[in-house]
Amino acid sequence: MNSLPIGIFDSGVGGLTVMREVRRLLPAEHLVYLGDTARVPYGNKSHATVSRYAVEDAQFLIGKGVKMIVVACNTASAFAASALRGTFPGMPILEMIGPGARAAVAATRNRRIGVIATVGTIGSGAYESRIREVFAASGTAGEVEILTQACPLFVPLVEEGELNSEITRLVALKYLTGLREAGIDTLVLGCTHYPLLRTVIADLMGPEVTLVDSAESAALETAVLLRDRGMLNESAQAPGAESFHVTDAAPRFNQIARTFLGHDTEQLELVELGSAG
Ligand code: DGL
Repeated sequence: MNSLPIGIFDSGVGGLTVMREVRRLLPAEHLVYLGDTARVPYGNKSHATVSRYAVEDAQFLIGKGVKMIVVACNTASAFAASALRGTFPGMPILEMIGPGARAAVAATRNRRIGVIATVGTIGSGAYESRIREVFAASGTAGEVEILTQACPLFVPLVEEGELNSEITRLVALKYLTGLREAGIDTLVLGCTHYPLLRTVIADLMGPEVTLVDSAESAALETAVLLRDRGMLNESAQAPGAESFHVTDAAPRFNQIARTFLGHDTEQLELVELGSAG
């Protein structure tokens, strides 16, 4: 059981930011990645559609014999975490919103937090309510200000590999200027694609704003979950095996993955999920 792989899924390349952190923290674990590149983006689709896609993604990973699932997509986490838990009751499932909210609350000093994410994640209000819950649970009194901004053009820019170009800077300027002027001291990158734009975002926000990478926080909580349940793959030699699965356009995925992970995605397979479209 402990030697089974961890399953990680996203709509596209964004979940690789989580995979990289999981690999860094848990070098001996075997990892299976699914990017639903045929149906990306999830961020502008309805609750019902994203939930259906997420259940199909998880089903695919379960078919690969995974011991847990990391929902490396904030939109799927916001819309489908409870559907996933209801559909696959015995399977440990780690979502992104809780880890990101906890990291933001730990980071802020002035209690003015910005959240950038997809239209779906922002519209769901998931980050706002989770951040308020974490503050309430920590017993610290006082006002909390949460400013949110949907950034729908970021995901297609990342999927096209426009990670640090002039057009990406212009788009970032449009989305981030208001947050910068509002005096936030912490900005949650509430979409797993956004850490790929970290350089552009950090340049615009300046050094006084802490960027919370929900990928880092989620990887940390993955390690804690496996350790607490006695499910770590401790007998194996690092590095663990990796396999990648996409539902469309494998060469482009491979190119971005190679740049980002720093190695080839040798085991890259084009797959079809339960229902097309
Ligand atoms: N990377 C995903 C997220 O964290 C999905 C982006 C998208 O497909 O729109 O929300």
